[in-house]
Parts: sequence; C-alpha cells; structure tokens
Amino acid sequence: MEKAKLHLESQIIELPIVTGTMGEKGIDITNLRNESGFITLDNGYQNTGSCKSSITFVDGEKGILKYRGVDISELAEKAMFTEVAYLLINGTFPNAEEKKIFSTQLTENSMLHEDMIKFFHSVPPTAHPMAILSTMVNAMSIFYPQYFVEQQNDDVYKLMAARLISKIRTIAAFSYKKSIGDPFVYPRHDLRYCGNFLNMMFHSPVKPYEISPEAERLMNMLLILHADHEQNCSTSTVRLVGSSKVNLYSSVCAGICALWGPLHGGANQEVIEMLEHIKKTNMSIKSVIENAKDKNSTFKLSGFGHRVYKNFDPRMKILKKEAQAFLAKRKISDPLMNIALELEEAALKDDFFIERGLYPNVDFYSGILYREMGFPTDMFTVLFAMGRMPGWIAQWKEMHDSVPFKIGRPRQIYIGPKEAHYPESQ
Ligand code: SDX
Repeated sequence: MEKAKLHLESQIIELPIVTGTMGEKGIDITNLRNESGFITLDNGYQNTGSCKSSITFVDGEKGILKYRGVDISELAEKAMFTEVAYLLINGTFPNAEEKKIFSTQLTENSMLHEDMIKFFHSVPPTAHPMAILSTMVNAMSIFYPQYFVEQQNDDVYKLMAARLISKIRTIAAFSYKKSIGDPFVYPRHDLRYCGNFLNMMFHSPVKPYEISPEAERLMNMLLILHADHEQNCSTSTVRLVGSSKVNLYSSVCAGICALWGPLHGGANQEVIEMLEHIKKTNMSIKSVIENAKDKNSTFKLSGFGHRVYKNFDPRMKILKKEAQAFLAKRKISDPLMNIALELEEAALKDDFFIERGLYPNVDFYSGILYREMGFPTDMFTVLFAMGRMPGWIAQWKEMHDSVPFKIGRPRQIYIGPKEAHYPESQ
C-alpha cells in the first residue's frame, strides 16, 4: 500500500494512498484525527472525496463522462433511457427478461394514488414545478410507506426505484397541466417511457397530440445526458440525507431541492431567462461579458463554469450539436441560440474565462432544446431531475451497500467565542 507522509509539528503521520481505476489518487484520512488530533478543512469540498464509487467517472481535464465505464456519447446515440437507468442502478445492461420486468414495473407504477392527485387541486397554478415535485416525491413516503429495514430487501428497493423513475413523469406532467388549467392526461400502458411523458404533457382532449419519433429521441437523449454525474451537490445531498437511514423517497426529495438552486440544476432555467433578458434589453455581447467579469457585479454567466470540467463538458457538445441540427432542419433562426453562440465565442476568446477554465456546461444549450420542444422554462429543472433520478437512486444504494457503512457527519474548525455567560442583569 502506497503511503503519504504528513509532517505535523513534532510528528510524522503515514496515510494510505488510494488509486482509482483511471489512475486518480487520493489520501485516505479516515484515521487522521485519531492519529494526530488534526482534521482537514476544504471549503466546498473542492479537494475532498466523500466515497469510492463505481457508478460514474468524470475526467474534467479531458472532458470525459462514463456511466459504469460506457462513454456518454455512445449511450446518448444508441441506448434507451430506461436501459441507462437500469445500468446505473444495477451495474449491468438488462437482458431481455430483465428489460421486460423493469418495463412492466415502470408501466404498472406510472399512476399516482388518487389522494395524491387531490394535492394538485389545492396548489396555486403559479406554484413552481420544482416545489411541487419535491413535495410530491416526499409525499410518496406517506402513500407508499417503507421502513428502512424493508428497503434493504432488493425487491422492495427495486420497486421503490421503479415508482420514483415512473411517477416523476406523471408528477411533472400534472404540474404543467395544473399551471395551464388543462385536465390531467393520465399515463397509458401502451406507450414507452418518453412517449408516455410527452403524451401526458402535450395531449389534450380537444387537441390530440401525436408523439413524434424525433421528440421521443430527443427526450430520450436529454434524459440520458442528465442521468448521473458523480458526487455533485444534489447527489451528495441524497447520500448525506440517506446516510441517516431515512427512506429513499425522502432522500431523493432532498436531492430535488438541492438541484433547484441556480448554481446547480436551476441554471438551465436561468440560462434561458438570461438570454431572454439580453435579447429584450438589447445588451451587447461585450457588455454581458464585461458584466460577468466584474467582481462588483453579482451577474454570472449562467450555464458557464463547472467545478470539475475545466475544459469542455461532453454533454454540452452533444446538446449544442443537437440544438443546431434541430433548428437547421426546421429552418428556424432562434435569436436566443444566436446570442448563446455569440456568448460562447466571445467567452472562449477572453482571458478571464480561459484562465479560469470557464466553458459552457450541460445547462447552456439544454434550454434551447427544451424550449423548442414546447416545455415552459420553469419545467426545465424538473426535466433535469427526471434524468438524474436513476443516478440519485443508484448512488443512494451504493452508499448503503458500502462497508463500513457510516452516517455522514463532517467536522468543523470552531472560531466562535471562547467563553460567554448569560447576562446577570436579565
Ligand atoms: C451543474 O457538479 C456537477 O457535476 C453539476 C452538474 C451535474 O451534472 O450535476 O454538472 C450540473 O450544476 C452544472 C453547473 C450549472 N451552474 C451554472 O451554470 C451557474 C454558473 N456557474 C457558476 O456559478 C460556477 O461556475 C459553478 C457553481 C458551476 C462552479 O463554481 P466553483 O467551482 O465554486 O467555481 P468558483 O465560483 O469558485 O469560480 C472560480 C472563478 C471565480 O473567479 P475568481 O474568484 O477566481 O476571480 O471563476 C469565476 C468565479 O467568479 N466564475 C464565473 C462563473 N463561474 C465561475 N464568472 C462568471 N460567470 C460564471 N458563470
């Protein structure tokens, strides 16, 4: 075992070095405090690994993303989202029999309990779909209660996973129908995963919706590209909350809330709102870039930058190409797409962005496609969550299967007052 030597005041501590499949190295500090009394400090966990994982691999320098060793570009081109979901959760692609069982589980669990549907009748139509999604996913622990010990049973865990992957579509579609005052369109057993969702979203009794193979293909590709991404903010949230042994639904609910933030999955909504603002105010690209660089300005270029990718985000490359092809095929000149392309070009030539490795990320072009497919802007992060669902589930399970299993409980360095007392005069 390779060791790292740490010279601490009068002692030298030896710590094991762990090496990952792709050669990345880490110092295992599990025994650091016991041996030295020291802890480490790492703002935002920028240099800290929380676990060993075999689910996803990201190489930020080379722009590589693999699920269970399979490159994302191969999956986006050849796989069905349900196959990728199965791969992430089980570690292998499903054979014919497994595919049939999983597909049947998804079909049979697509409906919501009628009492859950009543919830939609009491929320205002202006409710943000992410607020509805987190509420309804947590409500699954009301309608489908499963105590932790039961979740350790593989069949129960797989049923809970199927419920989440299937019902998120129905919750998303119902929140959209509620927002436009249209009747809910229930899931159908004769439609595939993406087609069923598109039908629930866009079919109406007065205006039948025809599921186009192109829309199904795009939806499938978008969900695959968002399916997992190592220990990002929302996935780490699912692991941390799940480490208290709360049920899977409540753990995923916490992940949905984390994803909603504009620094994370909420960026896809922010990007479109930013592009619309630039178009509306006729801001020059130059002034947008200068604004983004200005330390005194709170403005950030949404959809740009990434904690891990310091080169291109492979998902962005696929999405940009798909968005350009979609618009070209329909001979659409989308002003927002044009602004996005100009912003990317200007930023990639600017030292501020180059020095900091700030490139467009997965959220920069995804909204262009979602918008052209007919989704309202406030649904974009829900679509991100729909894609990420299998990743969250897989990471939750891997955490619970880890040996030794530990509840997550970080330390701190205290900088508050040394001693204080209750004021006598009270
Ligand atoms: C996702 O982690 C994942 O894997 C996430 C994700 C996934 O699949 O789960 O990939 C999905 O969340 C993608 C990211 C979506 N968020 C955005 O697009 C929001 C805009 N981006 C930033 O807020 C930022 O880049 C983050 C949050 C994404 C990353 O933040 P970091 O790693 O903490 O970097 P930082 O804020 O410390 O920035 C480093 C420097 C700073 O300048 P200096 O202090 O060095 O002078 O870069 C600057 C920042 O000011 N900077 C930006 C910028 N992002 C970083 N400046 C202008 N515009 C930006 N977008």
